[in-house]
Amino acid sequence: MSEQGQKNFYLTTPIYYVNDAPHIGHAYTTVAGDVLTRWHRQRGERVWFLTGTDEHGQKVLRTAEANNSDPQAWADKLVESAWKPTWKSLNIANDDFIRTTEGRHMERVQNFLQGLKDAGHIYEGKYEGPYCVGCEEFKLPGDLLPGANESEKLCPIHSRPVELVSETNWFFRLSAFVEPLLAHYRENPQACEPTSARNEVVAFLEGGVSDLSISRSSFSWGIPVPWDSKQVVYVWFDALLNYATAVGLGDAPGTPGGEDFAHKWPADVHLVGKDILRFHAVIWPAMLLAANLPVPKKVFAHGWLLVGGEKMSKSKLTGIAPSDITDFFGVDAFRYYFLRAIPFGTDGSFSWEDMVARYTSELANDFGNLASRAIAMVEKYCDGKIPCVANEPELAAAAALATKRADESISALDFQSGILAILEFCKSVNGYVTEQAPWVLAKDPARKSELDQVLYATCESLRILAVLFNPVMPETSQKLWRALGADKLGLLDDQRINDVARWGQLPTGAQTIRGEVLFPRLPENTGEELRG
Ligand code: ME8
Ligand code: MG
Repeated sequence: MSEQGQKNFYLTTPIYYVNDAPHIGHAYTTVAGDVLTRWHRQRGERVWFLTGTDEHGQKVLRTAEANNSDPQAWADKLVESAWKPTWKSLNIANDDFIRTTEGRHMERVQNFLQGLKDAGHIYEGKYEGPYCVGCEEFKLPGDLLPGANESEKLCPIHSRPVELVSETNWFFRLSAFVEPLLAHYRENPQACEPTSARNEVVAFLEGGVSDLSISRSSFSWGIPVPWDSKQVVYVWFDALLNYATAVGLGDAPGTPGGEDFAHKWPADVHLVGKDILRFHAVIWPAMLLAANLPVPKKVFAHGWLLVGGEKMSKSKLTGIAPSDITDFFGVDAFRYYFLRAIPFGTDGSFSWEDMVARYTSELANDFGNLASRAIAMVEKYCDGKIPCVANEPELAAAAALATKRADESISALDFQSGILAILEFCKSVNGYVTEQAPWVLAKDPARKSELDQVLYATCESLRILAVLFNPVMPETSQKLWRALGADKLGLLDDQRINDVARWGQLPTGAQTIRGEVLFPRLPENTGEELRG
């Protein structure tokens, strides 16, 4: 809690490798993080949302070399021409963007590592074993699949041969933290979710864990080990620390960094894909425990977007660019679709047909048409002015229930149930309009007050929908906010979840504006190449 009694909420996404431009898998995580942090901002919390890029290691080095580039120039180019613009185009409202080649990160990593060495958690040893450059991971023989011949073994994620590494490296005593971590997950089951992910982590820990090589000596693209200039820090040890270096890890109390760290650490949620669960739920908390620092409150591992039954990936060139979808459906439909269609935590396949179907029935018909009909009727029957505030207890109750359910679900990262609760309310409002038939009431001047009541209730419900949908679809919600004349209530982003269902806020006499259609009809025959 901050001094004002305002709750802090610090959320991170993985920092993505700059071996290529983002695809919809990276966008899936980042959009989920954006929706969750926007929701928490609307809860009135003090939010910090971090994303960034992972730039060291062999994977990035080799990509740069293959493109005749030096790795720093390559990373600079990808960050500026691909990663940052993609997040901007998707309306991602991150508060910070960390790059692991920044001085603020590199210095703090070195200090942290020196601290672990001084405390006796680091020793010199010999590593010999398989390594997947795609994962940047030391693999266990049991993790691998058979390859083309006796001696070849494949990484199950990248379906590519692993390499044999044999180096003298520095090791972190990871094995010493197996018992403390098992106790941690026993006592704090919410620290790793969903349950399937926690079970996997616990089983992995129970199977025994060896110490971890945390430096490499066969290439130099990385952070130098402070006491051994021939070695660079293992890219994952470097990368995981971003979550803490970005908020002042290791800075003295009283300095800006120290204050920042005291306010923000530990992170509330590390959002990751299930491919990198073990790094986040085993190695990362062990590093923190070794440094006597609090561990993150929650690691949440979501599922994969699949292509042909396999994880969509940059390495396999199966990535779909977000713009392939947003050019056709718009940014808000993109933000909506994946969270709506796939339970968060489960794998899902992208389907063009399913997206067309949901766009049309849920967004264009149930939500968009409701809004345009209501605004058109206020214009036609009430001179474009919101009529007298009127009660409609059933709708008010439905709004309160939807808000409660959406808040509980989204706070628990169950985006699908949260969105469904809002959609249900939208359906109730549609049902109400059909039943009340304002166009019939409008034919009889004696029923003007009934007509006004129905139109007020419909527009007031739309106000509530604009606020509830704002974290998921900020552009559309803003259009609706303006169309309702709700600007009088202040900024849409300043509306609070715990106040949204209080009935009767849309003020009488507010000027409605007939704007653009919220979800335009889809063009007939574009996007063929993505149809499956
Ligand atoms: O692993 N479906 O970076 P990365 C869903 N640099 N999510 C997907 C996905 C898919 N098909 N493909 C990627 C790294 N993602 C490290 C992370 S963190 C300290 C370092 C998302 O570029 C998902 O969040 O390979 C996954 O965990 C992440 O991108 C991996 O991105
Ligand atoms: Mg990857």
